[in-house]
Amino acid sequence: MEYTLLGSSNLRVSVIAFGAWQIGDTSFWGKSDEEEVKNVIDYAIDIGINLFDTAEMYGSGDSETQLGKIISKEKRSKVVIATKVSPQNCRKEQLIQSCEKSLKRLNTDYIDLYQIHWPPKDIPFEEVILTMKKLQEQGKIRYIGISNFGIHNMQKWFEGGGEAVSNQIGYNLLFRSPEYEIIPFCRENNIGVLVYMPLMQGLLAGCWSSVEEIPLLRRRTRHFSKNRPGTRHGEEGCERLTIETVQAIHALSQHLEIPMATLSLSWLKWQKGVSSIIVGCRSKVQLESNIGALLKPLDPEVFSLLNEITYPLKRYMGKNADMWENEKNARIC
Ligand SMILES: NC(=O)c1ccc[n+]([C@@H]2O[C@H](COP(=O)([O-])OP(=O)(O)OC[C@H]3O[C@@H](n4cnc5c(N)ncnc54)[C@H](OP(=O)(O)O)[C@@H]3O)[C@@H](O)[C@H]2O)c1
Repeated sequence: MEYTLLGSSNLRVSVIAFGAWQIGDTSFWGKSDEEEVKNVIDYAIDIGINLFDTAEMYGSGDSETQLGKIISKEKRSKVVIATKVSPQNCRKEQLIQSCEKSLKRLNTDYIDLYQIHWPPKDIPFEEVILTMKKLQEQGKIRYIGISNFGIHNMQKWFEGGGEAVSNQIGYNLLFRSPEYEIIPFCRENNIGVLVYMPLMQGLLAGCWSSVEEIPLLRRRTRHFSKNRPGTRHGEEGCERLTIETVQAIHALSQHLEIPMATLSLSWLKWQKGVSSIIVGCRSKVQLESNIGALLKPLDPEVFSLLNEITYPLKRYMGKNADMWENEKNARIC
């Protein structure tokens, strides 16, 4: 396994991380096989994956509970646990309570990385910053992270005296908006970038070849038409371009004889500024294919080709780094 130091912290994290949203949120992901989940997490730890990402929001705490059950006291020191507080729980008292509840569910005395899941809207950043620092002084959290912060909010956070060793953002071959501003800002300021949705929830693993096949909850992003149930962006979307791009990546992966998931993660792995890629997976087979991205460097020609194939989509999506909202209502700003 390869490791990197996360931003300015001393956290040594694996470059592939384990996304635990899948293991507790049945309303989004459907039911997981408990035995299989335990096996895949044990296997992940055995092969050196040490960063585990969850949130109080995932399955209303069930993801944290499951993780807490599986990561035993003996294994605790081997792993880096990253969880998140929801933006609506960022007032002082609620934030303290949220942290206590997460600690309990995770069955641990400390959280390695405590992240603000989305920028809180009506709460002064200064209040959030002071509370996070208090939790840190008390030893309940080791490092502070942010998630879904655009450059305006990052500037506001740092100007308010905030610290953050990482920013967690959605980034993949079909969604390259963070390349315009967020990643350059993070690189300049030594903020680690943790990537979520690296496989576009399965679309970049070759799971489906038409929009109709994609599970309803996984087709709500700006790629899809406003007429798809559950979307809120009100945009036309770019379904044809999305599917054509997926087909072109698929064809390249077949030509290279590299699984599409491996190729998609490899491309991310070689992006400058990316610290760790958080992938959700529920089976050993998927995990093995995903860590294949680390086996050998991506050929620079293939890297360029992937950039070219995905450029029209990058241009269409523009700078708005909120995958689900139009520019006017974007929460990542
Ligand atoms: N900060 C945030 O706002 C935020 C938002 C979203 C996610 N996250 C975090 O990021 C993690 C990853 O994001 P994500 O789960 O949304 O998206 P993802 O990692 O792009 O997709 C995960 C899904 O892709 C499929 N998959 C994974 N590996 C595969 C393989 N090798 N072959 C075929 N299919 C494969 C699986 O679908 P099936 O289970 O259907 O097989 C899996 O559940 C989450 O677990 C969570 O920790 C954070």
